[in-house]
Amino acid sequence: MAARLIDGKAIAAEIRGDVAARVAALAGTGVTPGLAVVLVGEDPASQVYVRMKTRACEEAGIVARDITPPADISQAELLGIVDELNADSSVHGILVQLPLPGHLDETEVTERIDPSKDVDGFHPVNQGRMAQGDRDAFRPATPAGVQELIKRTGVDTSGAHVVIVGRSNIVGMPMSSILLQKEEGANATVTVAHSRTKDLAAVTRLAEILIVAVGRPEMIRGDMVREGAVVIDVGVNRVEDASSERGYRLVGDVAFDEAAERASWITPVPGGVGPMTIAMLLQNTVTAAERVGSALEPTAV
Ligand code: GUN
Repeated sequence: MAARLIDGKAIAAEIRGDVAARVAALAGTGVTPGLAVVLVGEDPASQVYVRMKTRACEEAGIVARDITPPADISQAELLGIVDELNADSSVHGILVQLPLPGHLDETEVTERIDPSKDVDGFHPVNQGRMAQGDRDAFRPATPAGVQELIKRTGVDTSGAHVVIVGRSNIVGMPMSSILLQKEEGANATVTVAHSRTKDLAAVTRLAEILIVAVGRPEMIRGDMVREGAVVIDVGVNRVEDASSERGYRLVGDVAFDEAAERASWITPVPGGVGPMTIAMLLQNTVTAAERVGSALEPTAV
């Protein structure tokens, strides 16, 4: 079977269009959505991601505020920045780009963000509420984007066997929680495989829908994919490539050409899941701004 491509760029553009329309409607009520993006230090990859996020905000009419403290900021100073943003009514969403430099405590920083402004969906209050079926809890952008891609491709997840490879707090773990929900685009039978899984290939070959988020270039080979499976590749890895002007190229966690021979649908890298992550972040931010003055803002913890 030759797989069809899931065009994340096109689907993300649709969602960004919807977000822009919601932002325009909010303007009529005097609210301009604001997203604060905190980037500690000067990690080049994080700088690229943050620039893409702030540019997408501006295109949708969301005011993006970049806060770029130096890499040697103290934990107390960083918590102070989060406190100020929590108290600032022009800021509806707060995102602290991860990973943080090693001396900083990511958990404490994440938990300091007001859950009603946690548009990353990383706060344990949002993760817990989501796991318990609360539709109002913010969902992490990447797994929410994967669900949306699957839904908009018309793939039925109900009762389907989904295998997720990777159990990170950002993707694998919340992905499993989302797909178990009793809702459209979920109701799946979910297996989560990880670095300790025995005979990984035997597990991935069971997947009607295979979602891979491990950060290891082309780890999933063609013979690990079930014939007709839907393959969602969350990985974005730089591999050296002397023939490229930049000296590297981007590959996913799935060996694309091999997997595409067996899959029915597959996401490319780049242009698959990546654009969806940004679109869903914008969606969460406009949702947070729409809640101003409603019972959902601020979230009672
Ligand atoms: N680092 C990699 N992905 C993400 C994300 O979705 N949000 C944040 N805050 N940091 C990240």
